[in-house]
Amino acid sequence: MILPPEPVSPQDVAEHYDSLDLFYRDAWGEELHHGYWETGDESSAAAIEQLRETVLALAEIEPGNAVCDVGCGYGTAALYLAESRQAQVTGVTLSEVQCAEAERKAARSGSGALKPRFLCCDWLENPFEDASFEVVISIECLSHVSDKADFFAEAKRVLKRGGRLSLTAWTVRETTPKWANRWLLAPICHEGRFAGLVSSGELESLVTASGLTVERIETIGPQVKKTWRVIFRRLVKLVLTKKEYRRFLRQNLRSDRFFAFTVIRVLIAYETGMLDYAILKARRW
Ligand SMILES: C[S@@+](CC[C@H](N)C(=O)[O-])C[C@H]1O[C@@H](n2cnc3c(N)ncnc32)[C@H](O)[C@@H]1O
Repeated sequence: MILPPEPVSPQDVAEHYDSLDLFYRDAWGEELHHGYWETGDESSAAAIEQLRETVLALAEIEPGNAVCDVGCGYGTAALYLAESRQAQVTGVTLSEVQCAEAERKAARSGSGALKPRFLCCDWLENPFEDASFEVVISIECLSHVSDKADFFAEAKRVLKRGGRLSLTAWTVRETTPKWANRWLLAPICHEGRFAGLVSSGELESLVTASGLTVERIETIGPQVKKTWRVIFRRLVKLVLTKKEYRRFLRQNLRSDRFFAFTVIRVLIAYETGMLDYAILKARRW
């Protein structure tokens, strides 16, 4: 596992998303995850949708299913699920800003039982009863969590028998050279507030050790890496056209996290095969 130079706490993650709210919404939009370019010709909006749809298809969600979205961001997938699959969705995020925005959107959407609900809490300290969900989905949350064994233990605990976990996560190559750890992966962990990045092999072992059965695991780094070229172009445009972004960049360069450089590091890490991206389906029997 690749670790940041200093441990990352849930408070660090919450602060990261709260303080970069403007940046994330302008650069990514309301869904903070990679796009999935299956053919390579899709628009970025279509690629974002395709990644979400892939996760949801793996989860085999049926109308009325109780679904938990761990690390729900602005609640976009939860709201989409409630509408498109008539599921009862609960989203969990560490960020108060994200949670408030998700609740605002939920208040304007759906009705009754189909309105998703959102909680601002740490997944490792969630209030859910045992066996309360048919499905747990989680898109790009795992890297932020330090106790990954506990992450999966909680998923297993809250799932009913036969319940599905469908998840995506940033991953790293099975073995990485020292230069990549030093110049790319450890700084990416620090700047992106990742508590640790696992390889897909480590991911599979963690899930299996929790007692869940892995039914599918696939790495799709080459199909998602285009995301970072898109983000890089958007950022350059924002810096050139908006004063507040030039201020943001100046402040950022003075801070300890150089978040502006992360995009370049991530681009290089994907191109050199140091970073990858996993999609996984597991079941509680
Ligand atoms: C990259 S964002 C992805 C958001 C959302 N899944 C999406 O695709 O738009 C990571 C999310 O994980 C959440 N997160 C990270 N660690 C968490 C934890 N321990 N408990 C709950 N949420 C967490 C963050 O608050 C954030 O919403």
